[in-house]
Amino acid sequence: VTIHDQKLQRGKGGELHQFVEDGQPVLTTAQGAPVADDQNSLRVGARGPLVVDDFHFREKIFHFDHERIPERVVHARGYGAHGYFETYESAAKYTRADLFQRPGEKTPAFVRFSTVAGSKGSFDLARDVRGFAVKIYTKEGNWDLVGNNIPVFFIQDAIKFPDLIHSVKPEPDRAFPQAQSAHDNFWDFISLTPESMHMIMWVMSDRAIPRSFRFMEGFGVHTFRFVNAKDESTFVKFHWKPKLGLQSVAWNEAVKINGADPDFHRRDLWQSIQSGNFPEWELCVQLFDQEFADSFDFDVLDPTKLIPEEILPVRPIGRLVLNRMPDNFFAETEQVAFMTQNVPPGIDFSNDPLLQGRNFSYLDTQLKRLGGPNFTHLPINAPKCPFAHFQQDGHMAMRNPVGRANYQPNSHSESPRESPVRGYRHFPADETGAKVRLRPESFADHYSQARQFYISQTGTEQRHIASALTFELSKVQIPAIRERMVSHLLNIDETLATTVAEKLGFQKMPRPADAAMPTRQDLKPSPTLSIVER
Ligand code: HEM
Repeated sequence: VTIHDQKLQRGKGGELHQFVEDGQPVLTTAQGAPVADDQNSLRVGARGPLVVDDFHFREKIFHFDHERIPERVVHARGYGAHGYFETYESAAKYTRADLFQRPGEKTPAFVRFSTVAGSKGSFDLARDVRGFAVKIYTKEGNWDLVGNNIPVFFIQDAIKFPDLIHSVKPEPDRAFPQAQSAHDNFWDFISLTPESMHMIMWVMSDRAIPRSFRFMEGFGVHTFRFVNAKDESTFVKFHWKPKLGLQSVAWNEAVKINGADPDFHRRDLWQSIQSGNFPEWELCVQLFDQEFADSFDFDVLDPTKLIPEEILPVRPIGRLVLNRMPDNFFAETEQVAFMTQNVPPGIDFSNDPLLQGRNFSYLDTQLKRLGGPNFTHLPINAPKCPFAHFQQDGHMAMRNPVGRANYQPNSHSESPRESPVRGYRHFPADETGAKVRLRPESFADHYSQARQFYISQTGTEQRHIASALTFELSKVQIPAIRERMVSHLLNIDETLATTVAEKLGFQKMPRPADAAMPTRQDLKPSPTLSIVER
C-alpha cells in the first residue's frame, strides 16, 4: 500500500505501518513522527533540567493526563460483548419493526451487563440488580432495550430516581459503604418508600447474586407498544430467557468470591466466549391489549408490577447470541451509550412515568459522560444502516453533512427528505386530562405482588430472603428504620416478618405499615439520626 508516495508495510494484525524494522513496527507520536527514544525525556546535560522542546514527552503525558472520563452515574461497572439477534418468525401482525419481519434474519447486537450501585472498580458479586442493556443495530435504526435482570423496579416515578440512587451510593460525608445496600441511608429511603417492597423482595432473593451473566434473565420492565403497518398498537413486555437456565450463588459463596476474584463475572463471560461457548437468550414477549390490561387490579403502566407468566405466557420471537468480545474495552464497553429513547419504527412507548422520565435522562447523561453531542459518531454507537441528517459540528465531529445543503426544506437535489411512509410515526394515543402532580389510585397496592413473589419461592429460597434481610438490617444503626422495615414485611408475610424481627432481637412487633406514601409525621427526623453525625 502506498500513501503520499510512501510504501507502507503491514503488521501482524494487518494494520499499516510507516516503517517496520526486524519485523516490528516503529513507534510514532500521535502526529505520526517516528520516535527514537521513548525511555528518556529531553534534558540539558545528563543531570540537568528537562526542556520544553520535548514535544514527544509533552504529548505523551498530556494524553495520559486526560485518559479518564466520568464513570456512569449508575451501572458504572459493566462488561460487554458483541453478537447477533436472530428472528424466529415474522411478528408483522403486531409490529412493523424491520428486525421482526423475516424469519432467520440476523441483526448485529451489543450487550452490556452491569451492577447498579458500585463504582467502576467494585466487585462483581455484590448483592445488587444487574443491568442487561441490549443495542440491536437494525436496518431502520438502533433499538436499545435497556433492561435489568429483575422484572420490576424500586420506584414508580422517575422524579424519585436521584433519591433512590443517592441513598444506595456511599454516604456523602464518609464515602462508605462502597458497593452494598447494607446501610442506614438505603434502608431509610426504602422503608419510607412502600412502592419499593416488591423489588426489595427480588433484591433480597438469590436473583441478586447471579452465578454468572450467562445464567441471568433480562427484562425490559416497562410496558412498551408494538405498532404494525396499519398503525394498530399492541402492548408488549420483553423478557430475555437464558438458554442455560437460571443459577445463583449462595451469600457465603458470594462473599468469598468477591475476596478471591472480584472479576468473577467478567472472567466467566470472557472465558466462555473465547472458548467458543457462546451464551444465548431467547427474546420472549407478553402481548396484550387494553381490555386485558383493564382486567387487572394493578396498572400495567406501574413499573413495580409484572404480569404473571401463568396468566399471560411468554412467547419466544427470536434469540440473542453473544459470540465476540470487544477488541478494546474502553472504545466499546465503556463508550457505548444506551438510551431508552432509541426505538425503530414499530416500537413505541407506553405512559409508564418511569419510562418517560428515562427517555429524558439517558440522552442528557450521555452528553455529559461522553463529552459532547457527537457520541453517535463513535463506531459502537453509530447505526450500522445508512443514515442521513443535517446535524453538524460540535466537539469531535467526525461526520458532517456532505456538500452544500445543511437545512430543511431545501431546493437541492439528492438531499435527504422526510418520508411519511417510511418514517417513524408515533402511535396517536388519545390523551386528555388536567395537568397535575399525583399518583393514580391504580398504582396504590404495594404489597400483593411482593407477597406473590415471596410465596412463589421454595423453602430454601425463602430462608435466603429472611437471612438477607436480617444481614442487611443488622447493619442498620437506627432502630426506627429497622422497625419500619419489619412493619412493611408484616404486610407481605407474617412468618417472614417475625423471623427477621426475632433474629434482629426485637422485644415486640411493630404495627403493620400503612401502605400510603410517608406523611410529614413519618418524615420527622429520627432523634438518633442527626444530619452531622460525628
Ligand atoms: C444506566 C437500566 C431506571 C438513569 C442504566 C443501565 C441500565 C439501566 C441497564 C446501564 C446501561 C449500560 O450498560 O451502559 C434501568 C432500568 C430502569 C432504570 C431497567 C427501570 C426500569 C432509570 C431511571 C433513570 C435512569 C428512572 C433516571 C430517571 C440512568 C442513567 C444511566 C443509567 C443516568 C447511566 C447511563 C450512562 O452513563 O451510560 N440503566 N434504569 N435509569 N440509567 Fe437506568
